[in-house]
Amino acid sequence: MPTYTLNVNGQNRTVTVSDGGMPLLWVLRDLLNLTGTKYGCGIEVCGACTVLVDGQREHSCVFDVSSAVGKNVVTIEGLSANRSHPAQKAWIDNQVPQCGYCQPGMIMTVAGAMKAGHRGSEIQSEVKNLCVCGTYQRIKQAISSL
Ligand code: FES
Ligand code: FES
Repeated sequence: MPTYTLNVNGQNRTVTVSDGGMPLLWVLRDLLNLTGTKYGCGIEVCGACTVLVDGQREHSCVFDVSSAVGKNVVTIEGLSANRSHPAQKAWIDNQVPQCGYCQPGMIMTVAGAMKAGHRGSEIQSEVKNLCVCGTYQRIKQAISSL
C-alpha cells in the first residue's frame, strides 16, 4: 500500500492508503480526521468537498491523493486562525448557515475566488455550489461585502 506525505494546513502529514487513486476527500476525513470538508455528490456537482490545492479550488471527491503530493492543501480547518478570514467573517456577520453542511465548501470556494483576486459580483458568478437548505440569499449578501 502506498505511503504519501502531504502538506495539509501547513503541516506535513504522512498517510498510507489502499491506492494512489483514493480521493483526497477520504484521506482528509477518514485518515486525518479533518471532517470540515464534506461529501455531497461525489461527481463534482455540489462543491461540498472543495479545498484549496496550491491556492486553486479543487473538488476533493475526485482529486487523487497521489496528485496532492508536493502541494499545499488547505481545508476549512486551516483557512485561518480564529475564523478571521474575510469570508468567514462575512458568513458570521450575515448568519449564513442553516444546517451548515454545504458551508465549508461554500467558504472555500469563495476563499479561492478571493485568492485569485476576485471580489463581489465576480465571486458570486463563480459560486455554483449547491445548498439543500436554500441559503443562497444570505450567501449573496455575504459575498457582496467582499
Ligand atoms: S462531493 Fe465533491 S462536488 Fe459534490
Ligand atoms: S446550509 Fe444546509 S445544505 Fe446549505
